[in-house]
Amino acid sequence: AEFDLVVRRARCATAADVFEADIGIRDGVIVALGNALATGKEEIDAAGRWVLPGGIDGHCHLDQPTSDGTQMADDFLTGTRSAACGGTTTIFPFACQIKGQSLRAAVEDYHQRAEGKACIDYAFHLIVTDPTPEVLAVELPELIREGYTSFKIYMTYDDLKLADREIIDVLAVAREHGAMVMVHAENADCIAWLTERLIANGHTAPRYHAAARPMLVEREATHRAIAYAELVDVPILIVHVSGREAMEQLRWAHQHGLRVYAETCPQYLFLTADDLGLDDDPQGAKCICSPPPRDKANQQLVWDGLENGVFQVFSSDHAPFTFDGPQGKFAAGEEASFDHIPNGIPGLETRLALLFSHGVETGRITIQQFVALTATNVARMYGVYPRKGSIAIGADADLVIWDTGLDRTIRNVDLHHAVDYTPYEGLKVNSWPAITLSRGRVVWKDSSYLGEAGYGNFLHCDLPVPARPKFKVGAGIKENG
Ligand code: URP
Ligand code: ZN
Ligand code: ZN
Ligand code: ZN
Repeated sequence: AEFDLVVRRARCATAADVFEADIGIRDGVIVALGNALATGKEEIDAAGRWVLPGGIDGHCHLDQPTSDGTQMADDFLTGTRSAACGGTTTIFPFACQIKGQSLRAAVEDYHQRAEGKACIDYAFHLIVTDPTPEVLAVELPELIREGYTSFKIYMTYDDLKLADREIIDVLAVAREHGAMVMVHAENADCIAWLTERLIANGHTAPRYHAAARPMLVEREATHRAIAYAELVDVPILIVHVSGREAMEQLRWAHQHGLRVYAETCPQYLFLTADDLGLDDDPQGAKCICSPPPRDKANQQLVWDGLENGVFQVFSSDHAPFTFDGPQGKFAAGEEASFDHIPNGIPGLETRLALLFSHGVETGRITIQQFVALTATNVARMYGVYPRKGSIAIGADADLVIWDTGLDRTIRNVDLHHAVDYTPYEGLKVNSWPAITLSRGRVVWKDSSYLGEAGYGNFLHCDLPVPARPKFKVGAGIKENG
């Protein structure tokens, strides 16, 4: 046979087009698109069903220890398995530098964690927590050249945050070498001050997590990050944007011609601060993440931002901690105050079905926008396009064949992560991946996981095209005025 696999009569959608075609796959790569292609060793009839590029999750945390020693529930095996079962075929977890550690050591550590475990392809974003002169002048430039072309920096969390001058220094390295910087924008001192006051008044329950991180702390830090990016003349990407105030800063940046990209996540569409508990309910810890979910009006604004282009990427920010158990949300004790509960919620497996069901099927976003937000833009943003993120000749055969018109309820028992809950329990979805293909191999079909630990390849990333500064590198910093 001419092909290893032919997907017949696929209703394909890319970020730009919709077309019907047979997809011919050889050696894990799409080698033909056409009508009435020759036979394959295997065939899948997709007649009448959407076939989309596999999801790319540009933001997830796997096997990343927290500063207080809490272990994440998902490692590279359970995390990638869960992703595959939800239609995601490429992930970008983090290789997080510990202060005092070399960046190189952090990268090697995370390669060890992934080795032999990942069932889908993966790349790493670096997290730079300790930008020493050696890191800035030697390690970062070397790692960028080796294919680690994006990194996250934090403006909050004592063990992760950078001082303002350090942020500027890191941005300057990104500019010089063409990397993409992702920014966690929340004002650490405002959060610390509010937290102290809340705790001193006995307000320790999970719901006060949201009170300690109001929108203004996100707005201020977003504004400051944008100002530093303008100063240095380098594009940045603001991650996990939660609502109106940060979005107003993004709009301001766009109106001023600045290249400031932004990501949002399912929690800002489907959860509100009420999910942190209406009283002193410990269950609210299940939805503790930062920034916290806001309210219904903000959910609508985030939907609008997905539709009208404020957001370029839609990621899970999967940060998996169990609710129960010694590594759970109450690892610090049954009575732990909100500031001792690990931040983050699971979402790798539910990301695509939630957006497809409540975005595409409701008509809020087009199918091309869905593909752009969940795959194509992510691939471009982080330097794996066009190998990933589209249906095109020469691209990896990472594909999802969708079931629509379902009457399905999200239940944690049906998910494949190692977390003992989902924040989306009971939510309805009418679409779910029927088949997930990773480089032409079926990894999810008929509600069964068919992947193999170790099948996933590490991806060296190209320089992200969106990371190009306005002015030529080497021409000097632009003069204002
Ligand atoms: O609460 C969250 N989002 N935890 C994950 C880490 C991060 O800041 O993205
Ligand atoms: Zn973050
Ligand atoms: Zn995150
Ligand atoms: Zn405390």
